[in-house]
Amino acid sequence: MATTPALHDALLDFTSRENWDKFFALRGDGDSFEWYAEWPQIKAPLLSMLLGEEGTEILVPGCGSSSLSEQLYDLGFRRITNVDFSRVIVADMLRRHARVRPQMRWRVMDMTNMQFPDGSFDFILDKGGLDALMEPEVGTKLGMKYLDEAKRVLKSGGKFACFTLAESHVLDLLLSEFRFGWDMTIQAIASEPSSKSAFQTFMVVMVKGKMGVVRTIKSLVDQSAEYCNMQQANAVIHALQNENKIRESHNSGVDILFSLRDLQLGAIGDLKVIVPGRRRQLILGEQGSSLYCYKAVLMDAKNQNETFVYHCGVFIVPKVCYILSIRTCAYAVFFYYYYCLTESLSQSLPLSCNKPSKTETQ
Ligand SMILES: C[S@@+](CC[C@H](N)C(=O)[O-])C[C@H]1O[C@@H](n2cnc3c(N)ncnc32)[C@H](O)[C@@H]1O
Repeated sequence: MATTPALHDALLDFTSRENWDKFFALRGDGDSFEWYAEWPQIKAPLLSMLLGEEGTEILVPGCGSSSLSEQLYDLGFRRITNVDFSRVIVADMLRRHARVRPQMRWRVMDMTNMQFPDGSFDFILDKGGLDALMEPEVGTKLGMKYLDEAKRVLKSGGKFACFTLAESHVLDLLLSEFRFGWDMTIQAIASEPSSKSAFQTFMVVMVKGKMGVVRTIKSLVDQSAEYCNMQQANAVIHALQNENKIRESHNSGVDILFSLRDLQLGAIGDLKVIVPGRRRQLILGEQGSSLYCYKAVLMDAKNQNETFVYHCGVFIVPKVCYILSIRTCAYAVFFYYYYCLTESLSQSLPLSCNKPSKTETQ
Protein backbone atom coordinates (compact mmCIF):
# COMPACT_ATOMS: atom_id res chain seq x y z
CA MET A 1 0.00 0.00 0.00
CA ALA A 2 1.39 3.43 -0.95
CA THR A 3 0.78 6.01 1.77
CA THR A 4 1.53 9.70 1.99
CA PRO A 5 3.25 10.90 5.18
CA ALA A 6 -0.08 12.36 6.39
CA LEU A 7 -1.82 9.01 5.89
CA HIS A 8 1.04 7.25 7.58
CA ASP A 9 0.84 9.58 10.59
CA ALA A 10 -2.92 9.08 10.85
CA LEU A 11 -2.33 5.40 11.52
CA LEU A 12 0.32 5.39 14.17
CA ASP A 13 -2.04 3.33 16.29
CA PHE A 14 -4.20 0.78 14.43
CA THR A 15 -6.56 0.29 17.37
CA SER A 16 -7.75 3.91 17.57
CA ARG A 17 -11.12 4.78 16.06
CA GLU A 18 -10.12 8.45 15.68
CA ASN A 19 -7.03 7.45 13.74
CA TRP A 20 -9.04 5.29 11.34
CA ASP A 21 -11.61 8.07 10.84
CA LYS A 22 -8.77 10.46 10.07
CA PHE A 23 -7.15 7.95 7.75
CA PHE A 24 -10.32 7.33 5.71
CA ALA A 25 -11.14 11.06 5.60
CA LEU A 26 -7.65 11.85 4.27
CA ARG A 27 -7.85 9.08 1.67
CA GLY A 28 -11.10 10.54 0.36
CA ASP A 29 -14.22 8.65 -0.60
CA GLY A 30 -15.36 6.82 -3.65
CA ASP A 31 -12.94 3.99 -4.29
CA SER A 32 -12.11 0.69 -2.72
CA PHE A 33 -8.81 -0.18 -1.18
CA GLU A 34 -7.29 -3.51 -0.06
CA TRP A 35 -4.82 -3.69 2.78
CA TYR A 36 -3.58 -6.98 1.41
CA ALA A 37 -4.79 -9.95 -0.60
CA GLU A 38 -6.70 -8.81 -3.69
CA TRP A 39 -9.92 -10.43 -4.93
CA PRO A 40 -8.39 -12.39 -7.91
CA GLN A 41 -5.99 -14.13 -5.50
CA ILE A 42 -8.46 -14.91 -2.72
CA LYS A 43 -11.50 -15.71 -4.88
CA ALA A 44 -10.82 -19.44 -5.44
CA PRO A 45 -9.77 -20.39 -1.87
CA LEU A 46 -12.60 -18.33 -0.43
CA LEU A 47 -15.32 -19.73 -2.66
CA SER A 48 -14.15 -23.28 -1.91
CA MET A 49 -14.92 -22.50 1.76
CA LEU A 50 -18.28 -20.84 1.03
CA LEU A 51 -19.36 -23.83 -1.07
CA GLY A 52 -21.70 -21.73 -3.22
CA GLU A 53 -24.41 -21.56 -0.54
CA GLU A 54 -25.96 -18.23 -1.43
CA GLY A 55 -28.26 -17.97 1.62
CA THR A 56 -25.19 -18.01 3.86
CA GLU A 57 -25.25 -15.30 6.55
CA ILE A 58 -21.86 -13.63 6.20
CA LEU A 59 -20.25 -11.20 8.64
CA VAL A 60 -17.33 -9.00 7.53
CA PRO A 61 -15.74 -7.38 10.63
CA GLY A 62 -13.35 -4.47 10.01
CA CYS A 63 -14.61 -4.21 6.43
CA GLY A 64 -12.88 -0.89 5.70
CA SER A 65 -13.22 0.10 2.03
CA SER A 66 -12.39 -3.36 0.68
CA SER A 67 -14.22 -4.59 -2.43
CA LEU A 68 -14.52 -8.10 -0.98
CA SER A 69 -18.16 -7.79 0.07
CA GLU A 70 -19.32 -6.31 -3.23
CA GLN A 71 -17.56 -9.10 -5.16
CA LEU A 72 -19.35 -11.73 -3.09
CA TYR A 73 -22.66 -9.89 -3.38
CA ASP A 74 -22.36 -9.74 -7.15
CA LEU A 75 -21.78 -13.52 -7.18
CA GLY A 76 -25.13 -13.98 -5.47
CA PHE A 77 -24.24 -13.88 -1.75
CA ARG A 78 -26.89 -11.39 -0.62
CA ARG A 79 -26.87 -11.83 3.14
CA ILE A 80 -23.72 -9.90 3.99
CA THR A 81 -23.33 -7.73 7.11
CA ASN A 82 -20.35 -5.38 7.11
CA VAL A 83 -19.04 -3.93 10.35
CA ASP A 84 -16.49 -1.21 11.01
CA PHE A 85 -16.07 1.21 13.91
CA SER A 86 -15.14 4.08 11.59
CA ARG A 87 -18.26 6.17 10.85
CA VAL A 88 -16.40 7.82 8.00
CA ILE A 89 -15.87 4.60 6.05
CA VAL A 90 -19.28 3.10 6.83
CA ALA A 91 -20.99 6.28 5.60
CA ASP A 92 -18.88 6.21 2.45
CA MET A 93 -19.60 2.50 1.78
CA LEU A 94 -23.33 3.04 2.34
CA ARG A 95 -23.33 5.92 -0.14
CA ARG A 96 -21.53 3.79 -2.71
CA HIS A 97 -23.52 0.59 -2.36
CA ALA A 98 -27.00 1.30 -0.97
CA ARG A 99 -28.65 1.74 -4.39
CA VAL A 100 -26.73 -0.90 -6.38
CA ARG A 101 -26.60 -3.54 -3.65
CA PRO A 102 -29.69 -2.83 -1.55
CA GLN A 103 -29.63 -6.00 0.54
CA MET A 104 -26.11 -5.48 1.80
CA ARG A 105 -25.98 -4.26 5.43
CA TRP A 106 -23.48 -1.77 6.90
CA ARG A 107 -23.13 -1.17 10.62
CA VAL A 108 -20.95 1.18 12.66
CA MET A 109 -19.91 -1.20 15.42
CA ASP A 110 -16.94 -2.19 17.52
CA MET A 111 -16.03 -5.74 16.55
CA THR A 112 -14.77 -6.43 20.06
CA ASN A 113 -18.30 -5.81 21.36
CA MET A 114 -20.80 -6.79 18.69
CA GLN A 115 -24.52 -6.14 18.96
CA PHE A 116 -25.64 -9.44 17.38
CA PRO A 117 -27.34 -12.37 19.10
CA ASP A 118 -25.38 -15.60 19.62
CA GLY A 119 -25.16 -17.85 16.57
CA SER A 120 -26.21 -15.20 14.02
CA PHE A 121 -23.76 -16.04 11.23
CA ASP A 122 -22.66 -19.01 9.12
CA PHE A 123 -19.46 -17.40 7.93
CA ILE A 124 -17.13 -14.73 9.29
CA LEU A 125 -14.77 -13.19 6.81
CA ASP A 126 -11.93 -11.23 8.35
CA LYS A 127 -9.30 -9.58 6.17
CA GLY A 128 -6.90 -7.57 8.27
CA GLY A 129 -9.43 -7.05 11.09
CA LEU A 130 -7.69 -9.18 13.71
CA ASP A 131 -4.27 -7.95 12.58
CA ALA A 132 -5.38 -4.34 13.21
CA LEU A 133 -6.26 -5.17 16.83
CA MET A 134 -2.94 -6.79 17.63
CA GLU A 135 -0.76 -3.76 18.24
CA PRO A 136 2.22 -4.98 20.30
CA GLU A 137 1.64 -2.18 22.88
CA VAL A 138 -1.94 -3.35 23.44
CA GLY A 139 -0.99 -7.01 23.82
CA THR A 140 -3.59 -9.67 23.16
CA LYS A 141 -6.46 -8.04 25.07
CA LEU A 142 -8.42 -6.66 22.09
CA GLY A 143 -7.65 -9.67 19.90
CA MET A 144 -8.97 -12.04 22.57
CA LYS A 145 -12.09 -9.95 23.07
CA TYR A 146 -12.77 -9.94 19.35
CA LEU A 147 -12.19 -13.68 18.95
CA ASP A 148 -14.56 -14.37 21.87
CA GLU A 149 -17.17 -12.28 20.07
CA ALA A 150 -16.53 -13.96 16.72
CA LYS A 151 -16.98 -17.39 18.32
CA ARG A 152 -20.16 -16.25 20.03
CA VAL A 153 -21.89 -14.89 16.92
CA LEU A 154 -20.88 -17.88 14.78
CA LYS A 155 -23.34 -20.76 14.42
CA SER A 156 -22.30 -24.27 15.33
CA GLY A 157 -20.67 -25.72 12.20
CA GLY A 158 -19.99 -22.16 10.99
CA LYS A 159 -16.66 -21.05 9.54
CA PHE A 160 -14.34 -18.22 10.45
CA ALA A 161 -11.91 -17.35 7.63
CA CYS A 162 -9.13 -15.02 8.68
CA PHE A 163 -6.84 -13.43 6.10
CA THR A 164 -3.76 -12.43 8.04
CA LEU A 165 -0.06 -11.79 7.73
CA ALA A 166 0.24 -14.38 10.53
CA GLU A 167 2.84 -12.47 12.52
CA SER A 168 3.97 -14.68 15.39
CA HIS A 169 1.88 -12.96 18.09
CA VAL A 170 -1.24 -13.11 15.87
CA LEU A 171 -0.74 -16.74 14.83
CA ASP A 172 0.01 -17.79 18.42
CA LEU A 173 -3.28 -16.26 19.52
CA LEU A 174 -5.25 -17.99 16.76
CA LEU A 175 -3.63 -21.34 17.49
CA SER A 176 -4.29 -21.26 21.22
CA GLU A 177 -7.77 -19.69 21.09
CA PHE A 178 -8.99 -22.24 18.53
CA ARG A 179 -7.32 -25.31 20.00
CA PHE A 180 -10.32 -26.94 21.60
CA GLY A 181 -13.37 -27.79 19.54
CA TRP A 182 -12.31 -26.26 16.22
CA ASP A 183 -11.08 -27.74 12.93
CA MET A 184 -8.34 -25.57 11.59
CA THR A 185 -6.71 -25.29 8.15
CA ILE A 186 -4.12 -22.85 6.86
CA GLN A 187 -2.89 -21.97 3.41
CA ALA A 188 -0.84 -19.27 1.76
CA ILE A 189 -2.52 -16.88 -0.69
CA ALA A 190 -0.75 -16.57 -4.02
CA SER A 191 0.75 -13.15 -4.65
CA GLU A 192 -0.46 -10.99 -7.50
CA PRO A 193 1.96 -11.74 -10.39
CA SER A 194 2.77 -8.05 -11.02
CA SER A 195 3.14 -7.11 -7.36
CA LYS A 196 6.43 -7.18 -5.54
CA SER A 197 4.71 -7.48 -2.20
CA ALA A 198 7.10 -7.97 0.65
CA PHE A 199 4.50 -9.75 2.75
CA GLN A 200 2.82 -13.09 2.41
CA THR A 201 -0.89 -13.34 3.26
CA PHE A 202 -2.33 -16.52 4.76
CA MET A 203 -5.88 -17.77 5.01
CA VAL A 204 -6.60 -19.49 8.32
CA VAL A 205 -10.00 -21.18 8.50
CA MET A 206 -11.60 -22.37 11.73
CA VAL A 207 -14.76 -24.51 11.72
CA LYS A 208 -16.84 -24.50 14.90
CA GLY A 209 -17.07 -28.11 16.04
CA LYS A 210 -17.73 -30.09 19.19
CA MET A 211 -16.50 -28.57 22.46
CA GLY A 212 -13.32 -30.12 23.83
CA VAL A 213 -12.34 -32.10 20.72
CA VAL A 214 -8.74 -31.46 19.70
CA ARG A 215 -7.71 -32.00 16.08
CA THR A 216 -4.35 -31.38 14.44
CA ILE A 217 -4.16 -28.49 11.97
CA LYS A 218 -4.24 -29.20 8.26
CA SER A 219 -1.58 -27.09 6.61
CA LEU A 220 -1.00 -26.41 2.93
CA VAL A 221 2.03 -24.27 3.68
CA ASP A 222 4.91 -26.27 2.34
CA GLN A 223 8.63 -25.80 2.96
CA SER A 224 9.51 -26.70 -0.62
CA ALA A 225 7.11 -24.17 -2.21
CA GLU A 226 7.99 -20.61 -3.22
CA TYR A 227 6.45 -17.77 -1.21
CA CYS A 228 6.98 -14.07 -1.59
CA ASN A 229 8.40 -14.00 1.92
CA MET A 230 10.12 -17.26 2.86
CA GLN A 231 10.98 -16.07 6.35
CA GLN A 232 7.30 -15.55 7.11
CA ALA A 233 6.38 -18.94 5.59
CA ASN A 234 9.06 -20.78 7.55
CA ALA A 235 7.94 -19.15 10.79
CA VAL A 236 4.37 -20.32 10.11
CA ILE A 237 5.53 -23.87 9.31
CA HIS A 238 7.55 -23.98 12.53
CA ALA A 239 4.68 -22.64 14.67
CA LEU A 240 2.27 -25.18 13.17
CA GLN A 241 4.64 -28.07 13.85
CA ASN A 242 4.88 -27.04 17.51
CA GLU A 243 1.14 -26.55 17.81
CA ASN A 244 0.43 -29.95 16.26
CA LYS A 245 2.73 -31.55 18.83
CA ILE A 246 0.69 -29.90 21.60
CA ARG A 247 -2.54 -31.06 19.98
CA GLU A 248 -1.25 -34.63 19.59
CA SER A 249 -0.28 -34.70 23.26
CA HIS A 250 -3.88 -33.79 24.16
CA ASN A 251 -5.06 -36.89 22.34
CA SER A 252 -2.38 -39.19 23.75
CA GLY A 253 -4.24 -39.95 26.98
CA VAL A 254 -1.52 -38.35 29.13
CA ASP A 255 -2.85 -36.30 32.08
CA ILE A 256 -2.25 -32.79 30.70
CA LEU A 257 -1.71 -29.81 32.95
CA PHE A 258 -4.26 -27.28 31.66
CA SER A 259 -4.24 -23.52 32.17
CA LEU A 260 -7.33 -21.76 33.44
CA ARG A 261 -7.74 -20.22 29.97
CA ASP A 262 -7.67 -23.74 28.42
CA LEU A 263 -10.60 -24.69 30.66
CA GLN A 264 -12.46 -21.49 29.73
CA LEU A 265 -11.87 -22.38 26.08
CA GLY A 266 -13.59 -25.73 26.58
CA ALA A 267 -10.56 -28.03 26.93
CA ILE A 268 -12.55 -30.48 29.01
CA GLY A 269 -16.01 -29.56 27.78
CA ASP A 270 -18.59 -27.28 29.37
CA LEU A 271 -17.45 -26.43 32.91
CA LYS A 272 -21.06 -25.68 33.89
CA VAL A 273 -21.90 -29.34 33.35
CA ILE A 274 -20.84 -31.75 36.08
CA VAL A 275 -19.15 -34.89 34.88
CA PRO A 276 -19.32 -37.18 37.91
CA GLY A 277 -15.88 -38.41 38.89
CA ARG A 278 -14.02 -35.96 36.60
CA ARG A 279 -10.53 -35.08 37.81
CA ARG A 280 -8.23 -32.71 35.91
CA GLN A 281 -4.98 -31.03 36.80
CA LEU A 282 -4.54 -27.36 36.06
CA ILE A 283 -2.16 -24.56 36.74
CA LEU A 284 -3.47 -21.39 38.35
CA GLY A 285 -1.57 -18.26 37.41
CA GLU A 286 0.40 -17.50 34.27
CA GLN A 287 4.09 -18.10 33.77
CA GLY A 288 5.70 -14.71 33.28
CA SER A 289 2.80 -12.58 34.48
CA SER A 290 1.63 -14.04 37.80
CA LEU A 291 3.55 -13.70 41.02
CA TYR A 292 2.78 -17.29 41.98
CA CYS A 293 1.62 -20.35 40.10
CA TYR A 294 -0.35 -23.08 41.83
CA LYS A 295 -0.86 -26.56 40.64
CA ALA A 296 -4.49 -27.41 41.26
CA VAL A 297 -6.95 -30.19 40.73
CA LEU A 298 -10.51 -29.81 39.51
CA MET A 299 -12.76 -32.57 40.74
CA ASP A 300 -16.41 -33.36 40.21
CA ALA A 301 -17.92 -35.63 42.84
CA LYS A 302 -20.02 -38.60 42.00
CA ASN A 303 -23.78 -38.00 41.82
CA GLN A 304 -25.50 -37.50 45.16
CA ASN A 305 -29.18 -37.05 45.82
CA GLU A 306 -29.17 -34.61 48.71
CA THR A 307 -29.37 -30.88 48.09
CA PHE A 308 -26.24 -28.81 48.36
CA VAL A 309 -25.53 -25.23 49.27
CA TYR A 310 -22.39 -24.21 47.40
CA HIS A 311 -21.93 -24.21 43.65
CA CYS A 312 -18.20 -24.11 43.84
CA GLY A 313 -15.57 -24.08 46.51
CA VAL A 314 -11.98 -23.02 46.09
CA PHE A 315 -9.71 -24.23 48.85
CA ILE A 316 -6.22 -22.85 48.86
CA VAL A 317 -4.10 -24.35 51.56
CA PRO A 318 -0.36 -23.99 51.96
CA LYS A 319 1.49 -25.74 49.16
CA VAL A 320 -1.59 -27.23 47.55
CA CYS A 321 -4.78 -25.95 45.94
CA TYR A 322 -7.94 -27.77 44.97
CA ILE A 323 -10.74 -26.31 42.88
CA LEU A 324 -13.83 -28.27 43.65
CA SER A 325 -17.07 -28.01 41.74
CA ILE A 326 -20.63 -28.55 42.85
CA ARG A 327 -21.41 -31.23 45.45
CA THR A 328 -17.82 -31.66 46.45
CA CYS A 329 -17.70 -29.75 49.71
CA ALA A 330 -17.62 -32.89 51.77
CA TYR A 331 -14.72 -34.13 49.68
CA ALA A 332 -12.98 -30.79 50.04
CA VAL A 333 -13.21 -30.85 53.79
CA PHE A 334 -11.95 -34.39 53.72
CA PHE A 335 -8.97 -33.48 51.58
CA TYR A 336 -8.24 -30.47 53.73
CA TYR A 337 -8.15 -32.54 56.89
CA TYR A 338 -6.30 -35.29 55.12
CA TYR A 339 -3.74 -32.71 54.09
CA CYS A 340 -3.40 -31.24 57.60
CA LEU A 341 -3.07 -34.69 59.05
CA THR A 342 -0.43 -35.92 56.67
CA GLU A 343 1.39 -32.60 56.75
CA SER A 344 1.66 -32.60 60.53
CA LEU A 345 2.56 -36.27 60.64
CA SER A 346 5.17 -36.48 58.00
CA GLN A 347 5.83 -32.93 56.77
CA SER A 348 5.30 -34.32 53.31
CA LEU A 349 2.68 -33.37 50.70
CA PRO A 350 -0.52 -35.36 50.35
CA LEU A 351 -1.48 -37.10 47.13
CA SER A 352 0.85 -36.22 44.29
CA CYS A 353 0.56 -32.46 44.27
CA ASN A 354 3.61 -30.32 43.68
CA LYS A 355 4.72 -27.31 45.59
CA PRO A 356 3.60 -24.06 44.00
CA SER A 357 6.38 -22.48 42.02
CA LYS A 358 7.24 -18.85 42.38
CA THR A 359 7.54 -17.75 38.77
CA GLU A 360 8.54 -14.19 39.08
CA THR A 361 9.28 -11.55 41.64
CA GLN A 362 8.02 -8.09 40.86
C1 LIG B 1 -6.30 -3.31 8.18
S1 LIG B 1 -7.85 -2.59 7.84
C2 LIG B 1 -8.61 -3.84 6.86
C3 LIG B 1 -9.71 -3.30 5.99
C4 LIG B 1 -10.29 -4.29 4.98
N1 LIG B 1 -10.87 -5.44 5.63
C5 LIG B 1 -9.28 -4.70 3.94
O1 LIG B 1 -9.04 -5.90 3.76
O2 LIG B 1 -8.74 -3.83 3.26
C6 LIG B 1 -8.67 -2.74 9.42
C7 LIG B 1 -10.08 -2.22 9.48
O3 LIG B 1 -10.62 -2.58 10.74
C8 LIG B 1 -11.31 -1.47 11.31
N2 LIG B 1 -11.25 -1.63 12.77
C9 LIG B 1 -10.15 -1.57 13.58
N3 LIG B 1 -10.49 -1.81 14.85
C10 LIG B 1 -11.83 -2.04 14.86
C11 LIG B 1 -12.78 -2.33 15.88
N4 LIG B 1 -12.42 -2.45 17.16
N5 LIG B 1 -14.07 -2.52 15.52
C12 LIG B 1 -14.45 -2.40 14.23
N6 LIG B 1 -13.61 -2.09 13.22
C13 LIG B 1 -12.32 -1.91 13.53
C14 LIG B 1 -10.60 -0.24 10.77
O4 LIG B 1 -11.45 0.90 10.78
C15 LIG B 1 -10.23 -0.71 9.35
O5 LIG B 1 -11.24 -0.40 8.44
